[in-house]
Amino acid sequence: MEINREGYILGIESTAHTFSIGLADSNGYPLDSVSVAVRPLKGGIHPREAADHHAEKAADVLQKLLKSNKLESKNFAGVAFSQGPGLGPCLRIGASVARTISQKWDVPLIGVNHCVAHIEVGRKTCGCDDPVLLYVSGGNTQIIAKMDGRYRVLGETLDIGIGNMLDKFAREQGIPFPGGPKIESLAKEWIENNPESKLADYSLPYAVQGMDLAFSGVLNAACNLIKRGAPLGAVCWSIQEHTFAACVEVAERALAHTSKNELLLGGGVACNSRLRNMSEVMALERNAKSFVPERKFCVDNGSMIAVLGKLHLKHDDITDISNSSVLQYLRTDQTPILWT
Ligand code: ATP
Ligand code: FE2
Repeated sequence: MEINREGYILGIESTAHTFSIGLADSNGYPLDSVSVAVRPLKGGIHPREAADHHAEKAADVLQKLLKSNKLESKNFAGVAFSQGPGLGPCLRIGASVARTISQKWDVPLIGVNHCVAHIEVGRKTCGCDDPVLLYVSGGNTQIIAKMDGRYRVLGETLDIGIGNMLDKFAREQGIPFPGGPKIESLAKEWIENNPESKLADYSLPYAVQGMDLAFSGVLNAACNLIKRGAPLGAVCWSIQEHTFAACVEVAERALAHTSKNELLLGGGVACNSRLRNMSEVMALERNAKSFVPERKFCVDNGSMIAVLGKLHLKHDDITDISNSSVLQYLRTDQTPILWT
């Protein structure tokens, strides 16, 4: 296949609850995605049900995106998709939509690493060069830095992702998925109305273990505080203060160890203003700079997949259909970084 490096890249995101198709322009800059998400009223995400939802919506999402951008197949130079990590049934829907488009439009197929996409969309839109990434989402919590041609994981959660912890705590309190934004607003309201509050009154376990983190103990302890009668807003505030400080502490140590001076946030929890603020304060204190992508590029979105697809395509790194099976357990450091 002749590789055309001009044109738009289509990006398909389907790792978990969100199905999204987005675009990168010929300069590799992300445009707005069209996204739909499953929002279970009770319990967590059921992978099979989420996959059925994605399959049902895929054609509509694609049509809407093409129509609103006045684009057609001939404008595209490739189609990228999240090959992993994620939930198998959900990933497989994204992969088969991408394979179909690649064949029908006769454009290269590009399987990409979802976690690396969170980094590259941040680098592209914030203009930072060689950051330490604090990647905080539902499924993942990692502190990452580029070394020897790979994004290396310097620290990560030993149990559940921070977003998953927030969502589970919220669900226990009857707050629907995703719980993070509601916890943020309850925490803000609490501390504005109760500025004298002391964290010691709502104390939670320390989430740092060396360069790693752990959140399931925090989840249990927070639920116990509620059972003992602590106000919901106070517990939301305490969860944020404790766990965000833990993440920022590990990120700070990563900056010190690697001698880098840029911090980049990514993942859905990076939408949180309190976390953004703590990161900025830490960076300022050590003469570093903190970068935060626009919220639409922090949450899972197809355009970040397209941004990474464009980088792979530039290096002729495309995916043969025989290598396009999904990789549920793909790790951040498994993907060689060919670009600068
Ligand atoms: P990944 O596959 O990378 O783990 P994900 O499937 O968890 O991603 P994201 O969209 O990156 O998807 O992140 C969703 C998470 O972000 C949810 O846990 C949600 O509660 C959390 N979140 C979203 N907004 C906020 C916010 N304002 N404050 C805290 N958490 C938030
Ligand atoms: Fe994500």
